[in-house]
Amino acid sequence: MRIGVLTGGGDCPGLNAVIRAVVRKGEGVYGHSFVGYRDGWRGPLTGDTVPLDTAAVRGILPRGGTILGSSRTNPYAAVDGPSLVRENLAAAEIDALIAIGGEDTLGVAAQLHAEGLPVVGVPKTIDNDLSATDYTFGFDTAVNIATEAIDRLHTTAESHHRVLILEVMGRHAGWIALHSGMAGGANVILIPERPFDFDKVCAFVEARFATHYSPIIVAAEGATPIAGTLVTREGELDAFGHVRLQGIAQVLETEIRGRTGRDARATVLGHLQRGGTPTAFDRWLATRFGLHAVDAVHEGDFGVMVALHGTRIDRVPLAEATRELKTVPEELYNEAEIFFG
Ligand code: F6P
Repeated sequence: MRIGVLTGGGDCPGLNAVIRAVVRKGEGVYGHSFVGYRDGWRGPLTGDTVPLDTAAVRGILPRGGTILGSSRTNPYAAVDGPSLVRENLAAAEIDALIAIGGEDTLGVAAQLHAEGLPVVGVPKTIDNDLSATDYTFGFDTAVNIATEAIDRLHTTAESHHRVLILEVMGRHAGWIALHSGMAGGANVILIPERPFDFDKVCAFVEARFATHYSPIIVAAEGATPIAGTLVTREGELDAFGHVRLQGIAQVLETEIRGRTGRDARATVLGHLQRGGTPTAFDRWLATRFGLHAVDAVHEGDFGVMVALHGTRIDRVPLAEATRELKTVPEELYNEAEIFFG
């Protein structure tokens, strides 16, 4: 078989580990050949390819980013997009496609599969918000980076008796904030799933100062005050219609200063959470996803996504995997709340 591979959406550590595993098993065990598509769905849409074989994937396991490049291109937002994708894949004699991506990239894969394209999906995102899989790779690395940032903020906050606020990514899910906030001993964790009250946050801040510690607040970028709206960057939208979130830490800084008179400062962790080498867990998960994705292609089992359930890798229908966002359940947030204040 001749198999196309693409990585779409926001990048995350572990993408190269998937590509390596797909090619190593696909070539070495099954004798298939591969074609890399550049920059997510932009590759098949424009016919932009890159050679992909065992030599090309040597040494990429620990490397962050993706050797194929990525983009948020949506073929369904382009004129004749899906037909162009089909024509370009046929011209390159591609028998099957492996799409590595999050909600948007896999949503396109599900639609194209429903229209007859042989495609297998691999879930990735630092946000960990894909239902049907226990974890996505990239998440563990992002949580570790955020936790290290919290540890560092603690020491400088103590020196200056300040409130330090860390804004982390995650879009409309609070997974990164919840895990890093618990691991880092945050004073309070704010997530999109649970709108917050400024007065309560300020009470937690004062309680922490009362015990001679300085508060660290971890806020997910999608966290929203009870009487307020999402904080976005000038209403910018991407090709999938998503708003660009950023700024809740700044809002908290202003409110906390105004209400408590304490010195408060905001840090936005941003793309540091997506860059650099993957953790061992993410390398392990990404590698296993790659091995199982190429198995699915080899067996002609299309329209599925590989998924982690416990320690087992299963296949789930793509359509099911992208149907709803996986958000933080109430009981997990309740556990974290024990440590607030
Ligand atoms: O989905 C991954 C993610 O990093 C989100 O957490 C964040 O909201 C978004 O992508 C940022 O997108 P961009 O890299 O396009 O600014």
